[in-house]
Amino acid sequence: MDTDLAAEWRAMVLATREPDGPTPGDRWARRAGRFDRRSREAGAADPLVDVLGAHLAPGDEVVDVGAGAGRHVVPLARRCRRVVAVEPSASMREHLERRVAEEGLANVDVVADRWPSAARVEGDVVLSAHVLYGVEDAPAFLHAMDVAARRLCALCLGVVAPADALAPLRASVHGAAFPRRPAALDALALLHRLGLPAELQLLPGSERDLDFGATDDEVDELCLRVNVDPDALGRARVRRALETIAPADAAGRHRLGRTGPNALVTWRARAARG
Ligand SMILES: C[S@@+](CC[C@H](N)C(=O)[O-])C[C@H]1O[C@@H](n2cnc3c(N)ncnc32)[C@H](O)[C@@H]1O
Repeated sequence: MDTDLAAEWRAMVLATREPDGPTPGDRWARRAGRFDRRSREAGAADPLVDVLGAHLAPGDEVVDVGAGAGRHVVPLARRCRRVVAVEPSASMREHLERRVAEEGLANVDVVADRWPSAARVEGDVVLSAHVLYGVEDAPAFLHAMDVAARRLCALCLGVVAPADALAPLRASVHGAAFPRRPAALDALALLHRLGLPAELQLLPGSERDLDFGATDDEVDELCLRVNVDPDALGRARVRRALETIAPADAAGRHRLGRTGPNALVTWRARAARG
């Protein structure tokens, strides 16, 4: 019997869904500042934009679905005619809009919406980076990308979902193993099942060490990533788990392995398939 990949995807998302936290409707409220900081630290160097760049022309309009704090929006806006950043989280949008203004980019439009977007959004290339892990109805999301793109659709996803790179810490904190989230290979299989002939390519330089100190700031970040409130009790739980699974080295760092590599999954959009 044929496996229902869309149902499997939905089941994985529902089994790993986390509560919004203290800002109902905006699960990113407590992490948007860190996304902003990381995207500023990365600057212009971005393995995704480097590889996607080969598919882009200066006259292109690019839609970035789930643009977050603008990690890819800024370098894309420097390469292309226009970028449409679709972002439903108010906290992410606040950082994104501030960053776009600071960079003096006049060719970025921000759309406050959830994909599949109610607004009529289209572009030569439609990109979505690190969004699909939590999307229940993946076929609707992917079909909408296919329709919105005039030439190319692109997904950037981890070969393993980034949150799952912290699975041992999460299991130690909660005393239970969690199911995995869908990631790049699941997306590739689902796209083929949907009749969208996609290709996958690994992004060089997209692996990162997961290496944390025990400062409040770093432990707070870990608390949020393993779904623990970053209060005194939560920090103590995470510090205990860190010592158990990855005792601090001589430099006081807890080495939790690596995340990535990420993959770029691309397919020719319906309008270009003829
Ligand atoms: C992990 S962040 C990735 C942000 C950015 N693409 C990056 O790679 O840095 C996921 C983002 O996707 C957004 N998002 C989640 N579901 C979405 C949906 N259905 N449509 C559009 N954006 C969505 C979230 O609000 C969040 O900003």
